[in-house]
Amino acid sequence: MTDLAAQPPSRNLQKRALKPVVFVLCLLPLAWLGFRAATNDLGFNPIETIVRDLGDWALRFLIIGLAVTPVRRFTGLNAVGRLRRMLGLFAFFYVTLHLVAFIGLDQQFDFAAVWREILKRKFITIGMLAFVILLPLAITSTDGMVRRLGGRAWRRLHRGVYLAGVLGVIHYFMMVKAGLQQPTIYAVILAALLLARLMPAKA
Ligand code: HEM
Repeated sequence: MTDLAAQPPSRNLQKRALKPVVFVLCLLPLAWLGFRAATNDLGFNPIETIVRDLGDWALRFLIIGLAVTPVRRFTGLNAVGRLRRMLGLFAFFYVTLHLVAFIGLDQQFDFAAVWREILKRKFITIGMLAFVILLPLAITSTDGMVRRLGGRAWRRLHRGVYLAGVLGVIHYFMMVKAGLQQPTIYAVILAALLLARLMPAKA
């Protein structure tokens, strides 16, 4: 365990500030979306803008969360490792908001209609599958759950985040009718992160 008291005050402060600063940064996309909604700046289809914006951020946070371990391994910046859980939970937070916006705004809480959409539109089926994979990961993200499951089982379960990321990208590809550029960028980054994961750790 690192002894904060034994470190110079500036390092100490940096360490203590890292998580709260990143926490606030992670809330900025939501704040910005809220601001645009409050100022009627969501374009001609505000519901679509909200659902899509939250979907974009869900995918971005999934990818940022997956980048933590490779970044730490290749740069030696161990401090970023402490952000992994928070970033993963923010990914889940944005996915949940994306789902809630779809159910509440797009489908007006008509759960029968939501179910029909999940069955009928394949890209929504895939999105839902990704959500269902992420749900137990979010639930088991506490220290208590890591202890209860045991490190090995916990790690195996949490590998599901890669599958969720892949499904998230497929969901995006299936959704867009034209302009594959954005999902392709996500696919390439995700593939690079998966490859980095498979590479042996630096000696
Ligand atoms: C890990 C899970 C998910 C991720 C990463 C994700 C991500 C995304 C992304 C990136 C987009 C495209 C945004 C854009 O065009 O800029 C999108 C669109 C969409 N997603 Fe998801 N999504 C997920 C789960 C879900 C779930 C569970 C549902 C609903 C049951 C859903 C419903 C939708 C809908 C309806 C759209 C398109 C809205 C439209 O046609 O304008 N997604 N999602």
